[in-house]
Amino acid sequence: MSLVSHRFRPFGGSIFAEMTALSNKHGAVNLSQGFPDFDGPAAAKDGAIHAINAGHAQYGRMIGVPPLNQAIAVAWERDGRPAIDPDAHITVTSGCSEGIVAAILGLLNPGDELVVFEPFFDFYVTAAAMAAATPRFVTLHPPRNPAAPDAAFSFDESELRAAITPRTRAIVVNTPHNPTGKVFTRDELTLIATLAQQHNAIVITDEVYEHLTYEPRLPHISIATLPGMWERTITLSSLGKTFSLTGWKVGWAIAPEPLSAAVRAAHQFLTFCAATPLQHGAAAALRNPGSYAADLRTLFAANRDLLTDALRRAGLTVFPSHATYFLMADHSALGFPDDRAFCTHLTANIGVAAIPPSVFYADPTHGRALARFAFCKKRDTIDQAVQRLSNLTRRSAT
Ligand SMILES: Cc1ncc(COP(=O)(O)O)c(C=O)c1O
Repeated sequence: MSLVSHRFRPFGGSIFAEMTALSNKHGAVNLSQGFPDFDGPAAAKDGAIHAINAGHAQYGRMIGVPPLNQAIAVAWERDGRPAIDPDAHITVTSGCSEGIVAAILGLLNPGDELVVFEPFFDFYVTAAAMAAATPRFVTLHPPRNPAAPDAAFSFDESELRAAITPRTRAIVVNTPHNPTGKVFTRDELTLIATLAQQHNAIVITDEVYEHLTYEPRLPHISIATLPGMWERTITLSSLGKTFSLTGWKVGWAIAPEPLSAAVRAAHQFLTFCAATPLQHGAAAALRNPGSYAADLRTLFAANRDLLTDALRRAGLTVFPSHATYFLMADHSALGFPDDRAFCTHLTANIGVAAIPPSVFYADPTHGRALARFAFCKKRDTIDQAVQRLSNLTRRSAT
């Protein structure tokens, strides 16, 4: 009999851990879990090593060590956003993951509702369960014509309006979006902002991929910068994706004082503070970003194109990805019953691991035809995957 609490029982184990284990078992090229297979920048590592040797070994400030809060404020402003106060507006968390949980637990009461776009990053829904809040889902539909130059996943305005009720406390936005690679447009964000203001809802926006966008015509926009939105937005981000340091788990929440107070109310009892030396390393990375993110964008955009071509040659329909580590593809032409069957075959028999995305939908049938591929890898790794994917055409087509 399971000893897992009722709260967590519906969620089962992590699909990322499961697919990575399957990938390791079969010696597959692991394009399932979203982590780079190369190292982060020297500035970050040197900063952390220096902090360890300098004796930064004790608990840090609950809201973040001062040099990191200052570096986050400078980075925020460097990206053209209005000035913020490092201590009043920034809370350092153990990765964006903890920021998501702290924001939702700190803000929502039992019975409150949370609007979530699907496919979703699973933490939004599990955090809602921890808060005894109810998620209301708005589907991002695949583009009808994936070959059109501006094709992107999109939502229906009427479906968003229908998901908002008098109990709506918050709307979760994730832009750039995992797993679709969508960048929310100014028009889409303006609609969300207008509805949030009309219904007095808070926006929790997860922007961990803010620096990984590949189309100049689709720049990342922080919804907090839209008129009237600073007051009602919690912006979450982290070090992991921008600097290929996903294992460091250093993140942050940026919000005006009343919303920062809600985040901090939960954060102080979740972890209290992130690892002190890594916070110093994070500060060093943010102070000296160099061309690291620009180089990543060049690498990842090329990887995305190579993978897209290989998957198309293998008979999949690939939806354009404009950002993030990921792309989504439709495998239905290859004749597998669902996403799990396809991804298991791909991992075990072709040697390329991908994620079955039905777990990212409230109704898993919505993800049955899809597979998510991570392209945040060395060029060699992508070349190897491309090579192996050529076998998929031959085996499946016969
Ligand atoms: C959309 C999104 N948010 C948050 C996270 C987690 O961020 P962190 O590693 O900083 O906790 C991820 C990681 O995959 C993600 O894709």
